[in-house]
Amino acid sequence: ERGGYEHFMLKEIHEIPKVIEDTLFEYLSEDIEMDASFSAGISEIVFIACGTSYHASLVGKYLIEKLTGIPVRVEFASEFIYHQPPMHRALTIAITQSGETADTLEAMRIAKKLGAKTLAIVNVLGSTATRVADHVLYTRAGPEISVAATKSFIAQLIVLYLIALKLSRLPGSEVNRLIDELRAMPELVRKVLEREGEIEQIAVLISGYENMMYIGRGIGVPIAMEGALKMKEISYIHAEAYPAGELKHGSFALLGEKTPVIASLVPDETYEIMLNNIKEVKARESVVVAVADEDDQEVEKYVDFVIRVPKTEHIFSAITHSVVLQLLAYHTARKRGCEIDKPRNLAKSVTVE
Ligand code: F6R
Repeated sequence: ERGGYEHFMLKEIHEIPKVIEDTLFEYLSEDIEMDASFSAGISEIVFIACGTSYHASLVGKYLIEKLTGIPVRVEFASEFIYHQPPMHRALTIAITQSGETADTLEAMRIAKKLGAKTLAIVNVLGSTATRVADHVLYTRAGPEISVAATKSFIAQLIVLYLIALKLSRLPGSEVNRLIDELRAMPELVRKVLEREGEIEQIAVLISGYENMMYIGRGIGVPIAMEGALKMKEISYIHAEAYPAGELKHGSFALLGEKTPVIASLVPDETYEIMLNNIKEVKARESVVVAVADEDDQEVEKYVDFVIRVPKTEHIFSAITHSVVLQLLAYHTARKRGCEIDKPRNLAKSVTVE
């Protein structure tokens, strides 16, 4: 049932091109028809989620704010429940792969009580979240067996791109151009998967450390956070993620030869300042592995290793980079002999608060 793969996690990463195709097909074949009450006059959006789905929400915030100008907040479901922030009738979007995460379900119920409309982005058909929400958008990732979320995260991103494009103020021609780029993503992810051997070699090097730092800026921040979470949960290496510009406010103290740094270099307005940040990190003697575009000639001058991703519109780097970081976590954990599909202390769906 693992289709020749050593672990479900690896099988599921290799299913990502197909998952992108299926999720796009679901919504592009009939247009993402969210009824008028959903999209009319949204003045604010609040995401609620946990774990990997929380990181997808952070990408969603970046995309929606950038493409639509609608202000977006992202709340940990477990915090939302007790804090109950002002909602001003905001649209609430809950993201949950399983549809059974207790904190997310409770936060959705509270959001409804506070007068918010709720939309759930869910992978498991018929799960509890689909009954609690006013409106459901399914990700088409198929069953995910490995505890670590991989293909479901990418499917969540696809739905978020579609929502952001649907609500965007961009001219139609620009939206169509971006949708065409999205349609090319399965092919680009296949190209990332072809580099697995290279990523595995870097994983061999990483597997000897006990601490790591992931950095990025802009959309690279949630990419880094999700990369670090994947590394922690399956390899048991302590990994922190930081917006690169925040390092100098304390975390620089952790850098040095015992702490390798994984830098997500996105080809957007943050590129130059990220290169500066990388130089600062190198000056503190950390080994630096950059994830960067295949035609980037600059970055290799400053870092120890570069993992290349195919060139794409910068907002779609979240997909290519995340697949790289999933493979990096997988191969690091494998090298360390960890139980990859069932990591210690974790469950696939967390049904207690
Ligand atoms: C990490 C992981 C968890 C889940 C989190 C939320 O790989 O799987 O962090 O993302 O427990 O689960 P869902 O999305 O089912 O609500």
